Amino acid sequence: LQAIVNQFDTITGTSLTTAAQWLLAGETVAIPTETVYGLAANALDPDAVIKIFEVKKRPSFDPLIVHIGHQSQVLKYTSAFPAALQRLINIFWPGPLTILAPKSDLIPDLVTSGLEQVAIRMPAHEIALELLQSLPFPLAAPSANPFGYISPTTAQHVMDQLGGQIPYILDGGDCSVGVESTIVGMENDQLQVYRLGGLSIEQIEAVAGPVSIRLNKSSNPLAPGMLKSHYAPRKPLMMGNIEEMLPHFERTAVGVLSLRPLQSVPAGVTPYYLSESGDLSEAARRLFAGLRALDQSNVSWILAEWMPDEGLGKAMNDRLRRAAYQKKK
Ligand code: TXA
Ligand code: MG
Repeated sequence: LQAIVNQFDTITGTSLTTAAQWLLAGETVAIPTETVYGLAANALDPDAVIKIFEVKKRPSFDPLIVHIGHQSQVLKYTSAFPAALQRLINIFWPGPLTILAPKSDLIPDLVTSGLEQVAIRMPAHEIALELLQSLPFPLAAPSANPFGYISPTTAQHVMDQLGGQIPYILDGGDCSVGVESTIVGMENDQLQVYRLGGLSIEQIEAVAGPVSIRLNKSSNPLAPGMLKSHYAPRKPLMMGNIEEMLPHFERTAVGVLSLRPLQSVPAGVTPYYLSESGDLSEAARRLFAGLRALDQSNVSWILAEWMPDEGLGKAMNDRLRRAAYQKKK
C-alpha cells in the first residue's frame, strides 16, 4: 500500500517552456487557473492521465475536467453541442464555467470515468491559456490537492501537498476567484447546474433564465465534487452562529472563520476573517487559504459561519457544508 510511484525534486517556476516539456513527456504539472490550481496532464494520453489519479490518490470513478485554450476546440472533443451551452460559453469563456456534453472518441474513457459526457472548460488565466495554446493537446486537470482535501489557491499550497511527487509547479500567482468552476449540463433540454462555483447562479440566470440546481445527485454517485464530504480540513469543522458556538468551546483552542472581523477575539481563539468589508468575491478568494491556515494552526476545532446566500456566497456555503460533513464512524 505504500508504493511510491513518482519521485521528483519538485521545482516551482514561471517557465512555460519547462511546463510544456514535462507535459509533452507525459508527466503531470501543476498549473494555475483563476479558480484553483490544477494538476494537469495530456488529456488524450491515458498513460499520462493515470498519473493524475496516482498522485492525487483519486478514485478512478471521479472524472476529470478537460481544459482547452481555444473555444472552437469544444467541437473537437464533443460529439454534440447544444445551443444553450454554446450561448453560455460565448458569454462566459474564458471563465469559471465547466460544461458537460457528449464526448467525442478523442477523449479517453479514463478522463470521463466511463461516462458518456465530458466536462470541458477554458480557464480565464493568461498563463494557463498561453500554455494550453502552445500545446498540441488539451489538459485534463482536477484540483491539485490530495483527494478530499481543500483545493490549492497558491503555488505554495501545491508544493506543501504534492511536493516530491510532481516535476514542476507553474506559478501563476494567487488564484483570483478561489472556488472551483461552476459545472453546467443539460437534461431534457433544460440547463442544470451540478456544482456551484466561481460563476454565480445569478450571472447564469441573467442570460439563460431560471436554471435548476442538482447537487448531490443520488442517481449519479460518479461525481465526487458532489460528494457530501469533500474539500475538507483534517480538523473538525462546525458551522453555525459564531457567538452562539463560542461559549461551548471555552476550554478548547478554536479557530474561527468569519466573513468580517470579529468584534472582539476571546482568549484561545485564532481568528481568520475573509473580507474586512464583507465582499463575497474577496471572501471566496481567501476561503481555502483560510481553511488551510486554521487547519495548520494549533486549534482543535474550526468554527465557521454561513455566508450570505447570494453570489459567490452560495458556492462558499456549498464547500463549507461538505467540509463540515463528518462521516459516521
Ligand atoms: O475550477 C475547476 O473546475 C478546477 C480547475 C483546476 O479547473 N478543477 C476542478 O476539478 O475542480 P476537480 O477534479 O477537483 O473537480 C471535477 C469535478 C468532478 O469531481 C465531477 O464532480 C465533475 O467535475 N465532473 C468532471 N467530469 C465529469 C463528467 N464527465 N460527468 C459529470 N461530472 C464530471
Ligand atoms: Mg477537486
